[in-house]
Amino acid sequence: MRVTAVKSRVNSRAAPKGGPIPLSEVDRSATARASTGLREFDAVLGGGIVPGSVTLIGGPPGAGKSTLLLQIAANLARERGPVIYVCGEESAAQVQLRAERLALAGRDILVYPETNLREVLDQAEQIGPRTLILDSIQTVWLPESESYAGSVTQIRDCAQAAMEFSKRTNCATFVVGHVTKDGAIAGPRLLEHLVDTVLYFEGDMNGDYRIVRAYKNRFGSIDEICVFTMEADGLHEVGNPSELFLSGRHGRPSGSCVVAGIVGSRPVLIEIQALVGETSYGTPRRLANNVDQARLAMIIAVLERRVGLQLGSHDVYASVAGGLRVSEPAADLGIALAIASSFRNRPLPADAAAFGELGLSGEIRSVTASARRIAEANKLGYRTLFTPQNYADVAQAIEAALA
Ligand code: TYD
Ligand code: MG
Repeated sequence: MRVTAVKSRVNSRAAPKGGPIPLSEVDRSATARASTGLREFDAVLGGGIVPGSVTLIGGPPGAGKSTLLLQIAANLARERGPVIYVCGEESAAQVQLRAERLALAGRDILVYPETNLREVLDQAEQIGPRTLILDSIQTVWLPESESYAGSVTQIRDCAQAAMEFSKRTNCATFVVGHVTKDGAIAGPRLLEHLVDTVLYFEGDMNGDYRIVRAYKNRFGSIDEICVFTMEADGLHEVGNPSELFLSGRHGRPSGSCVVAGIVGSRPVLIEIQALVGETSYGTPRRLANNVDQARLAMIIAVLERRVGLQLGSHDVYASVAGGLRVSEPAADLGIALAIASSFRNRPLPADAAAFGELGLSGEIRSVTASARRIAEANKLGYRTLFTPQNYADVAQAIEAALA
């Protein structure tokens, strides 16, 4: 009886504005995703940008944050309407120079060299942009916040003000945040829980490609990556990252193993490199670069105890070529094979690829998405596969691989 009463009230739409509404009647028309014009980047976002969302784009200086955002801005301006690009770090002329270099028309991009965020939001209130870009959060400040620009308080207050504006007006906002390589400047990190989506540039910024990874995404899955090459006319998406990651591989070096990994939702081939050398003095060094340090220690222990490799008197370096960070246990077997290969100074077969998790007794455990890993390996010509299906334990796999 009471339920019917409630229902009829809701259905009559006489409920006061702003009150609770039935989930099924929430108006979603304003939240249709928009394409940034970069297909792979759209995928990292979870299928395009959601209106009213706030996205943090972090990375070290020189990573390509401003370049990426200007490219996106041009597309979003064309597709959705005005974009305000707040350039706190550069003059409007510098941004225009970059746009010229990128061959962007930029008619609907409103460049705004203003660091007072109150001014920015007041202007935005009148213009009604569909997209707002703050480049960077470290340079903007609010007069009512008593700290200096770039301070923790200012960064948080500014992000909150931008969030509020975004949600209320349904404007998609991108916030740039600088992070140093080791994450030393904690600024952007404290924004991670505030914003909807966090993307970071990762990998080797000196090389000519860039990896953008989703660390948090309220509208998509995390760990999704897209790969760009940085060229004279801006960032270009790389359709097949596996080819790029393996492009530096020549011949059959010892200490190298191709791993069929899964990054985000896609299979990617990467090269694990290991270098094992006698320790000249003191405790042996174990150095992991883009590989999990604790996993490396575990793998070394397994190789010592279960395979009998005398690594106790050797330094071990393990790294992922190309700078993609790999944290999945499925890389264990590849890391183990690379170390064994370097230790014995024998290369793996040229067409070898591996995946599988190592257990403490040396067993190779199965991992997710086997079929997709194998398909990606085969696609690129890797046919000698070391997988949990083929080998039960790591000692066997090593004997077969280095025979
Ligand atoms: P930038 O986007 O300014 O980096 P961030 O905003 O993250 O600090 O540019 C990064 C580097 O890329 C810069 O050193 C110059 C280079 N670059 C190119 O190689 N090609 C280009 O088209 C552009 C615009 C920049
Ligand atoms: Mg910049």
